[in-house]
Amino acid sequence: MAVSQSTSNHNLNKLAGKIAIVTGGASGIGEATARHFADHGARMVVIADIQDELGNQVALSIGTDRCTYIHCNVADEDQVKHLVESTVNIYGRLDIMFSNAGVASPSDQTILDFNFSEMDNLFATNIRGMVACVKHAARAMVKKRVRGSIVCTSSVTGSHGVPMGTDYCMSKHAVVGLMRAASVQLAASGIRVNSVSPNGIVTPLTTRARKMSDENLRNCYRKYARLEGVDLTPKHVADAVLFLASGDSEFITGHDLRVDGSFIGS
Ligand SMILES: NC(=O)c1ccc[n+]([C@@H]2O[C@H](COP(=O)([O-])OP(=O)(O)OC[C@H]3O[C@@H](n4cnc5c(N)ncnc54)[C@H](O)[C@@H]3O)[C@@H](O)[C@H]2O)c1
Repeated sequence: MAVSQSTSNHNLNKLAGKIAIVTGGASGIGEATARHFADHGARMVVIADIQDELGNQVALSIGTDRCTYIHCNVADEDQVKHLVESTVNIYGRLDIMFSNAGVASPSDQTILDFNFSEMDNLFATNIRGMVACVKHAARAMVKKRVRGSIVCTSSVTGSHGVPMGTDYCMSKHAVVGLMRAASVQLAASGIRVNSVSPNGIVTPLTTRARKMSDENLRNCYRKYARLEGVDLTPKHVADAVLFLASGDSEFITGHDLRVDGSFIGS
């Protein structure tokens, strides 16, 4: 008989009392992680996103005693500053920043047909937004002497070449560079900075970009992982983020945790 390898019900209190921000928490990986953080005892999970209706719905479904929604376009540093400052003002501190919001460009962005305005739009969220979140979370943690955890979402494309999505691939390499630099600079304050790098997953971001049905995209992504018998889901990534956010990874910093089922590059 097959034995489940899921650990989802073990130690349901890894984030007891913690205050966390999840950017891009209205959908996909961010939503799954916000739910996971709340399930693991976080005192408050602040979802920051630009999809207000969806973000409010997710917060409501988690429970307003444990989760709240705030509009924040991470591409705008002032909005990120406000997000972090209001979180600290209301809840007293910030323990965890999951900087996860990201976008893909509408066109294939191969180098031969590269579109610079699409790249600028994508970099505004995937790079500028990521830096703003790490910067302001770190400042709040240093100020309050919180030995916090910052986790950024990169991708398998952050360490491999790709047949298309050149700007996306560049942005995810930048996320790993940001994570490594920040982890060195913040170690003296006891703040850990790590990243997760998922393989392809069916989420609104990828179904929109690839213009495929969920089922066809799932079949397509199976070809990118050697590991048989399991399809990558947002919950798998949320498990990895929980590990990096919690005391389970207390001595781990500057690490890019790949959630890729042994990635088969192109
Ligand atoms: N789905 C995949 O295959 C995959 C693989 C590797 C990495 N990632 C990365 O995972 C992260 C989450 O993506 P997802 O797949 O869950 O997609 P998703 O579209 O389901 O979620 C992304 C969320 O980010 C929000 N967002 C976009 N721009 C924003 C902005 N400027 N400010 C605030 N919020 C913004 C969106 O509204 C959305 O709710 C992204 O960084 C993505 O690049 C995804």
